[in-house]
Amino acid sequence: MRVDIRPFGKDPAGQPADLITLTNARGESVSLTNFGGHIVSLMVLGRAGSLGEVCLGQDSAEDYARRDIGYMGGTIGRYGNRIGGAAFTLNGEEYPLYANDGRNTLHGGKEGFNRKLWAYEVEESGVVMRYTSPHMEEGYPGELAVTVRFTFSEQAELRIDYRATTDRDTQINLTNHAYFNLGNSPDILGHTLWIDADQVIEVDGELIPTGAMLPVEGTPYDLRTPQPLGEVMQREDNAMFAAAKGFDIGYVLNGSGMRQIARLHDPDSGRVMTVSTDQPGVQCYSGQGFNCGGRAGHRYCAYAGIALETQQHPDTVHQPSFGSTLLKAGDVYQTATVYAFSAQ
Ligand code: GAL
Repeated sequence: MRVDIRPFGKDPAGQPADLITLTNARGESVSLTNFGGHIVSLMVLGRAGSLGEVCLGQDSAEDYARRDIGYMGGTIGRYGNRIGGAAFTLNGEEYPLYANDGRNTLHGGKEGFNRKLWAYEVEESGVVMRYTSPHMEEGYPGELAVTVRFTFSEQAELRIDYRATTDRDTQINLTNHAYFNLGNSPDILGHTLWIDADQVIEVDGELIPTGAMLPVEGTPYDLRTPQPLGEVMQREDNAMFAAAKGFDIGYVLNGSGMRQIARLHDPDSGRVMTVSTDQPGVQCYSGQGFNCGGRAGHRYCAYAGIALETQQHPDTVHQPSFGSTLLKAGDVYQTATVYAFSAQ
C-alpha cells in the first residue's frame, strides 16, 4: 500500500490538517483527513477497468468546516443521530446537550467529532486516528478516548474499526457519514439498494423515534429485494417517507454479529458497494437536503449521494427496548464497518 500525505488547509482554530491517501496495487485509493476524520475520496475500479470516484467530498479542511455539507464523510460522535429533547439522564443525573436540530441534538451537538482535529499515525495499510473528548464536552460525562482505524485492502475494502474507553459512565454512538454515488450521474436515482431489514424505526415529525418498530412490508422502506431508488422515490403511499422526501430512516437490521447488511449497485457503471457491520442499525439518508458546493467546483443537489450510517438505533438513550448505548467506565466500546467495492 502506498501512503501519501499532503497539507489540506486549516481547521477553524488555524491548526494545519493533512490529507492522507492510501493507494493499493490496482491504483484504487482512499483519502482521509485528520480534520474530523473525514473520508474525502474513494477511487475504485468500475466494469470498464477505469478508476472512478464513489463518494462525495470537499477540497480542504476549510470546506469540511462549512455547516452546509450535511456531515459529508465525517466521523460522527460522541453520539450519532438524534437525542430527543437534547438531554438524557444517567445514574440519576440529568445531562443537558446542545440543541442543534430544533429542540433536539443531532450528530454530536454544536462541535461534534467531525469538527475536531484528530491525531493520527500511519500503519501498514491504514491510518489510526485518535481523539480524546474531555469530560462534559458537549454536555457528555466522561473523558472519552476514541480510536478510529481506517484500513484499505488490495480488494478495495475500506474497514473502519471504532474503539473507545471512558473514565466515567457515558453514552456513545459512533458512525461515519460518507455519502456514496457509484456512478457518473449527479444523483443516485439510477442505483438499486438492498438492505437486510424487516423493520424500521418509527419517527415523529421531528425525526425522533416514537419507540415503535414498524414492518417494512408494503412500504417504500422494503428493500429486502434490491429496489431501484428512482422508482421508490416516486412513491406517495407512506406518510413518513413523504414527509422526509425520501429515505431518512433507521433500519432495524436482521441478524447479529459481523454480517453483510446492505448492497448498493449502479447498473450504469457496474459498480457495487456492500456494507458489513456488527451494529444493530443503519440510518439510510438519501441526501434530499443537499444544495452545496463540493470537490473541484461540483454542485451537490438533492439525492447527490446516499449515506448508510451504521449505528445503534437513534435516541437509544430514551428507548431501552432499542438496546443500550451506555459505555461504563473501564469498559471498551468496539465496533466495525466494512464498505467493499467491486464491479460486475
Ligand atoms: C442524517 C440525518 C438527516 C440529516 C442528515 C444531515 O444522518 O438522518 O436527518 O440531518 O444527517 O444533513
